[in-house]
Amino acid sequence: MKLSDYINNKPVLHTDRLTLRTLQPLDADDLRQWLSQKEIYRYWGKPAGKADKDPSLLFAKPAKPTKSFHWGIVENASHKVVGEMWVYLIEGDRMAKLAIRLAPSCHGKGLATEATREVVRFCFEETELRRLWTDVDVRNTASVRVLEKSGFQREGLIRQGKMVSTWCDYYIYGAIKS
Ligand SMILES: CC(C)(COP(=O)(O)OP(=O)(O)OC[C@H]1O[C@@H](n2cnc3c(N)ncnc32)[C@H](O)[C@@H]1OP(=O)(O)O)[C@@H](O)C(=O)NCCC(=O)NCCS
Repeated sequence: MKLSDYINNKPVLHTDRLTLRTLQPLDADDLRQWLSQKEIYRYWGKPAGKADKDPSLLFAKPAKPTKSFHWGIVENASHKVVGEMWVYLIEGDRMAKLAIRLAPSCHGKGLATEATREVVRFCFEETELRRLWTDVDVRNTASVRVLEKSGFQREGLIRQGKMVSTWCDYYIYGAIKS
């Protein structure tokens, strides 16, 4: 399928422990539980925004048609939304940026790696995307590990650059369809 085929029909992705699906208004309570935790934003590149503080705002307006993907990450065991994943900033239908965040209570269990690997597989096998990339603060060791375990390579170091809206040293990581 092509990215354009998913505009009005976002896919649901499955892994052993997770389901990645479009967020729904009833998910706001799950999101509120962990999006209020400061450690999520330590290396996120920007502080918590309005919708991070009040996730019900995500559903205040009808979603705009887009080729980008924004999945809620549901832990199958608890049925709770414990994370979010984005594939966005799509350029030329061949390159996109990836971002992920997980509830602190779920860190260190390999869940981010599990979700990222499945999203990489989906992008390269089920869309025409050929390159995924992301920027990651050099201090964000957990994210670096997740990316490297998911097939991303370190492509560069930007010193004292602007990562989203914060100034820091950050790496560029990329994965190529091969
Ligand atoms: C980045 C993030 C998604 C990782 O989630 P996670 O589920 O804990 O990731 P995983 O369990 O799959 O892998 C984490 C790896 O980092 C390692 N790690 C975690 N913290 C570490 C630290 N402080 N020092 C060294 N290694 C660390 C873990 O040991 C694990 O590696 P291993 O499997 O080789 O042992 C999570 O930390 C998060 O949501 N952070 C806040 C948002 C964020 O920064 N997102 C990324 C933006 S680029």
